[in-house]
Amino acid sequence: MNISDKNNNKNVIVFDLSDNSDLGEEGYEIDINKNNVKVTAQKPAGLFYGIQTLLQLLPPEIYSQNSVQHSDVKLTIPCCKITDKPRFPWRGMHLDVSRHFFPAEFIKRYIDLIAMHKMNIFHWHLTDDNGWRIEIKKYPKLTGKSAWRVDREDVPWREVTPPEPGEKATYGGFYTQEEIKEIVQYAAERFITIIPEIEMPGHTSEVFAAYPEFSCKGKDLYVQPGSYWPNVDIFCAGKEETFKFIEDVLLEVIELFPSEYVHIGGDEADKTRWRECNLCQQRIKNERLKDEDELQSYFIKRIEKFLNEHGKKLIGWDEILEGGLAPEATVMSWRGIKGGVEAAQQGHDVIMCPTSFCYFDYYQANPDFEPEAIGGFLTLKKVYSFDPVPEELNKVQKKHILGAQGNVWTEYIPTPEHAEYMALPRMTALAEVVWSHTDAKDWKCFQNRLQVQFKRFDFMNVNYSRGYWKVTIHPIMDSGIYQVELESEQFNIPIYYTLDGSDPTPQSTLYKKPLKITNSTVIKAGLFLDGDIKEYYSEKEILFHIGIGKNAELAIQPSRKYEAHGAMSLVDGLKGSDSYRDGYWLGFEGDDMIFELDLGKEIQISSITASFYQNTGAWIFMPEKVIFEILDAGRNKVERSVLKPESTLEVKGVVIEDISAKFNNETARYIKVHAKNIAKIPGWHEGAGSKAWIFVDEVIVN
Ligand code: ACM
Ligand code: ZN
Repeated sequence: MNISDKNNNKNVIVFDLSDNSDLGEEGYEIDINKNNVKVTAQKPAGLFYGIQTLLQLLPPEIYSQNSVQHSDVKLTIPCCKITDKPRFPWRGMHLDVSRHFFPAEFIKRYIDLIAMHKMNIFHWHLTDDNGWRIEIKKYPKLTGKSAWRVDREDVPWREVTPPEPGEKATYGGFYTQEEIKEIVQYAAERFITIIPEIEMPGHTSEVFAAYPEFSCKGKDLYVQPGSYWPNVDIFCAGKEETFKFIEDVLLEVIELFPSEYVHIGGDEADKTRWRECNLCQQRIKNERLKDEDELQSYFIKRIEKFLNEHGKKLIGWDEILEGGLAPEATVMSWRGIKGGVEAAQQGHDVIMCPTSFCYFDYYQANPDFEPEAIGGFLTLKKVYSFDPVPEELNKVQKKHILGAQGNVWTEYIPTPEHAEYMALPRMTALAEVVWSHTDAKDWKCFQNRLQVQFKRFDFMNVNYSRGYWKVTIHPIMDSGIYQVELESEQFNIPIYYTLDGSDPTPQSTLYKKPLKITNSTVIKAGLFLDGDIKEYYSEKEILFHIGIGKNAELAIQPSRKYEAHGAMSLVDGLKGSDSYRDGYWLGFEGDDMIFELDLGKEIQISSITASFYQNTGAWIFMPEKVIFEILDAGRNKVERSVLKPESTLEVKGVVIEDISAKFNNETARYIKVHAKNIAKIPGWHEGAGSKAWIFVDEVIVN
């Protein structure tokens, strides 16, 4: 556009900071007509978001990293009027740089991605058990030692072994204070605030590799090359020196980061050492605390006081509620929304990032075809459906929900490209959750617009996930009728499938409605565009049996992390794979699995088979025994069978064992399967005495 005509307001782009208080801190207006483009905002951030919208109105080539040569791209922009402002002030993305280290250049690119999504917070998880990543001048060993671990990058995270004697720590890295200043400035230019996170009192074992004196035991540790659980070595809350160390660190952090908030972690602090430590116990006595939870609360309150005295506010993960919340603390609710609800009811500010909607380290598509992830299952559609404001809060409490953020933990994310893959396009869905007002959200419309977003990503060379292009094969059970649904999150692209084991082609059957399956079969299904399959097809074996779709219940619920679809998953015709994190297995931590099935009427039973998983490296063991029972319609016991697994607990690696009870065609209405957990991990194992897991999937009734 030629700006020489600006006197008559023709062919100009005008940016106007005006006193329109309706637009708030971040809102903007755009008015585009034949003669000019006008962007109005009350604050500079609003103008910045107006520019992001202008970029979105231009062809996707505008995002190209190189100048676009072909002349057929016209940089035109449609005439329109827009008034826009965000729903939430906290629109965040998190990145864990401890589990894997990402270079400063990538951090800037991540910030660019956050900015193009009109998000405004980058939560930088700088310290954790696997490496300390921020230069602290007063404690040089934090970067000399705590930032480095032995290199196990060629081994999947869950199989990583501890260092060998004398082995050199060569994997890691850290950001110098100069780099951090530059990144903070880079973010500020894009209206992004960086929230630094310094973990305490737990997730700190890497500190003790350099400064063991701040732990309870005072014994030096190695920086962990993987996750060993539970992580018992945490800051000693009894020693004054610990607080001096943390305050010194925080003083340097405060200098570097202009943000109003400092995140102090607070999650998953195992209290074993505190229970054994004389100094910690002395502190509990002196401060008249009830227990170790109150000691944690004392710890956090003390740090909050320090931060407040230095003009900062404290944020912590929802565990900081335990033992009593610090007076001004803001809570980040990750273990569901419960912590957030409680905090808001107590009048505290809250940021929502429940695992079920905001953990972008979870699988985003069928785990059979995805790079290994930490577990879980969080599709794009599910992210899009999130509403950060819980219904149960009243009007005043709802105001405490500042917004939401997506969390990218990097145990299973070793490279920048992989981080992009996990973050995108889920970040795009979350961006709309935190910006758009509820009545403006529309999944179909989003899917349609997303096609253009993908083109922008292509021009930016972003490695976004195509998980969205795959078909999910999942059972639906409605009034005792079992059907299998094929679903894709893609927009209006046909699915073709086969049931005979052959690979699907555009000549296969077009999917129209859920399939009634009455025999064991293999389903293969793919998305086809212009005669070509998109990505690759999905495949699932359905094991048909008489228990499928019947009414199932569990007396004890599985662990939140491994709950699949609850009891129903045990009779859905789908068996877990050799990965216990695949979303089909149900995991019970220390508890028994007590399952009951109502067949609806009396039926002849010849066998019941339950499959169990063992991987002692992941603390998963075969059950001690399995009790099978069949009952008649009057709930009288017909028969009972008690079986023990054949695999011993000492077998290494993955074992899947089918344990099968035979019945002589007896009639039964109810079926009970009780798998008895060994409960405590045996003495020879590294986790001796901790809770053992059992994993089960599919109870097959014939
Ligand atoms: C967390 O995911 N441990 C906050
Ligand atoms: Zn202690």
